Amino acid sequence: MTKRIVAYSRLKPKHLDQLSQRFHVDYFEALKDTDDPDFRKALSEAHGIVGSSLLITPELLDAAPQLEAIASISVGYDNYPVEELTQRGILLCNTPDVLTETTADTGFLLIMATARRAIELAEFVKRGDWRESIGEAHFGSDVHGKTLGMIGFGRIGAAIARRGALGFGMQVLYSNASPKPELERELGATRCELEELLAQSDFVCVSVPLSAETTHLIGRREFGLMKPSAIFVNIARGKVVDEAALIGALENGEIRAAGLDVFEQEPLSPESPLPHMTNVVALPHIGSATHETREAMTQRAVDNITLALEGKRPISLVNE
Ligand code: DGY
Repeated sequence: MTKRIVAYSRLKPKHLDQLSQRFHVDYFEALKDTDDPDFRKALSEAHGIVGSSLLITPELLDAAPQLEAIASISVGYDNYPVEELTQRGILLCNTPDVLTETTADTGFLLIMATARRAIELAEFVKRGDWRESIGEAHFGSDVHGKTLGMIGFGRIGAAIARRGALGFGMQVLYSNASPKPELERELGATRCELEELLAQSDFVCVSVPLSAETTHLIGRREFGLMKPSAIFVNIARGKVVDEAALIGALENGEIRAAGLDVFEQEPLSPESPLPHMTNVVALPHIGSATHETREAMTQRAVDNITLALEGKRPISLVNE
């Protein structure tokens, strides 16, 4: 019997071909509505799912009684009910490693753009406001030699810290559940309590996965502990931060600026004050969004689902 796959993110012909050689593929390019009757029908017969971003609920799983494996085209898996999947014997695969460096580039882009006010000043030039040499009112802050506080020190956090320490001579502090002695040796990084990191860092960068423990990890109290000159960067998940508290901290001058790739609600509402603040650089969740990396992530997802449905061990399995 040929197994069936539902693919609901945009795939290149090459990836669709690879899947179609082994499986029957029901392809929903950029699916918007999970109540779509064709999608529901395909789900009811599916052995595998390939896609990203969609919130997979237990109710959707009920609609997929034959499901054996899901291959997410993402490293984050906060949109999947992991325990429920495990209980039902459904494998969940993700795409770590292949996006680490690209996502770290995005983190550093936000550090540089906020510190040197790159977007704000590019807009200033575009508007034709550059009529004389700029003065102090438009100066930014140095990045090199400053203190970078990493909240979360997994693959991506470490890759951002590596850029800071080795490329920009930054001192690295990190708060993480477990110590990372190898990274301490490589980067001269120091592990400390979150409170100390917040008080000492010039750049506070969040890079933890979203979970019950990390939801609103950074809120009013935490912004209050940061230096008024601190720049806050989030490349993890929007819900790790209490966004109302962040807006308050920016409005009240409790911190200097924020570089944000992720938001509590995505896409970000046009009503949000964040993208209208001159000291905020807001990006539309571009962490891993380069041609090369998205291709590698999709290839990993295709390989994961192929291995899983053929009864072999996928390359990156979330629920061991
Ligand atoms: C991920 O892979 O989890 C990223 O956030 C998607 O860009």
